[in-house]
Amino acid sequence: MSGVIRLQTEIPGPLSRSLLNRRAQAVPRGVPAVTPIAVGHAEGAVITDVDGNRLIDFGGGIGVVNTGHRHPGVVEAVRRQLDRFAHVCFPVSTYEPYIEVAERLNQITPGEHPKRTFLVNSGAEAVENAVKVARHYTGRQAIVCFEHGFHGRTNLAMALTSKVDPYKKGFGPFAPEVYRIPYPYCYRCAEAGDGEAAGPSMCCMADRTRLEQMFSSIVDPHSVAALIMELQLGEGGFVPAPAEYVSALAAFAREHGILFIADEIQTGFGRTGKLFASEHYGLVPDIIVTAKSLAGGLPLAAVTGRAEVLEAPQIGGLGGTYGGNPLACAAALAVLEAMEVEEIPLRASRMGALIRGRFSGWAARYQAIGDVRGLGAMVAMELVRDRVSKAPDKPLTQQLLTECLGRGLILLSSGTYGNTVRVLVPLTTPETIVQEGLDVMQQALESILS
Ligand SMILES: Cc1ncc(COP(=O)(O)O)c(C=O)c1O
Repeated sequence: MSGVIRLQTEIPGPLSRSLLNRRAQAVPRGVPAVTPIAVGHAEGAVITDVDGNRLIDFGGGIGVVNTGHRHPGVVEAVRRQLDRFAHVCFPVSTYEPYIEVAERLNQITPGEHPKRTFLVNSGAEAVENAVKVARHYTGRQAIVCFEHGFHGRTNLAMALTSKVDPYKKGFGPFAPEVYRIPYPYCYRCAEAGDGEAAGPSMCCMADRTRLEQMFSSIVDPHSVAALIMELQLGEGGFVPAPAEYVSALAAFAREHGILFIADEIQTGFGRTGKLFASEHYGLVPDIIVTAKSLAGGLPLAAVTGRAEVLEAPQIGGLGGTYGGNPLACAAALAVLEAMEVEEIPLRASRMGALIRGRFSGWAARYQAIGDVRGLGAMVAMELVRDRVSKAPDKPLTQQLLTECLGRGLILLSSGTYGNTVRVLVPLTTPETIVQEGLDVMQQALESILS
């Protein structure tokens, strides 16, 4: 038998089921179990569950392992750091790996201007801190965010997040001074008429007067500290923003003294075929927040931005006990080296072309695939009941994911309507394995739709 998938039991197997039963008695249901499998080992893009089944991972721990599970450089770097020290607390005692991560991020993020970086533990924490810094620097309080945006689960990040159920329902009150504007979601744009004809070159929301009007109806631009945007939505359905919208918005922000915060937590580190999605747009954000694939599986996030902005808060105003943990910093340095040496962004654009080609072929056969989209290897397809109404087909999406899992492929959905199938396969995955995963998707589609 060729291929890496090996199924020894039904999915989930008895040992996975038993762990999930224990989990249900010990962990609240609010923490979701998106798949019913328990992991024994993971390497590259292959996960072996506790029953000995080998599955292909197209979820990558939700975009965390762009360099693959247990990248050898990351494993080695963490081991070496563990032999030296695991924690001293950066605000108490300085250590080189933290400084080096900051230096590297200052170098590789868009823009030649002087920058500063500080490190925290999670994407949500980075978002919170970016807002803190932007407010301090500008002396303004309002923050503008987007419909369909996702920025995390802490109180302010939750306020900035769009989707109500499950992320916000029952969790109010939310942080004040947050204003939401529509995301340029071409496929579902009412003004574009036939969404299929609307392409990035005809974004109807990029109009300057329209931006003025929109702001004037919700908030005075001169009281806005920052806007925060995912250049391609992650949890919101893998929707890339049209280039002319981003430039119109960036120009508007600049003219009104509003800082542009690019949330590159899911788009970062090669996923879109560039190190950062901002590069596709020629955008130089004032602040860029990163996390997920920054440290190849260890918890680390960063706030990087213009030196004068990041230097605004007073001594002691930023930091935390664990932010920039030495093991996570060692892992990040190995990831950043792999990005360069293994040309991961370039591999991502090739992989993206391959995935997109297969998806487009299926879209030509199946009416249920309403849209295929995404930058680089951040590719998705949106499933609909029919192409005229574009009614989101969440049940079909769930059915496809379940069918794939039963055949040995871990696949994730996303989108406000839960009807988008997204691919976050490690970018180091050999083409044969990517093709094997895509074959599983094709078989699953055929078995459901034919
Ligand atoms: C774009 C974006 N921002 C913020 C976050 C929150 O990151 P974390 O889960 O590490 O807090 C996520 C997580 O999925 C994300 O995709």
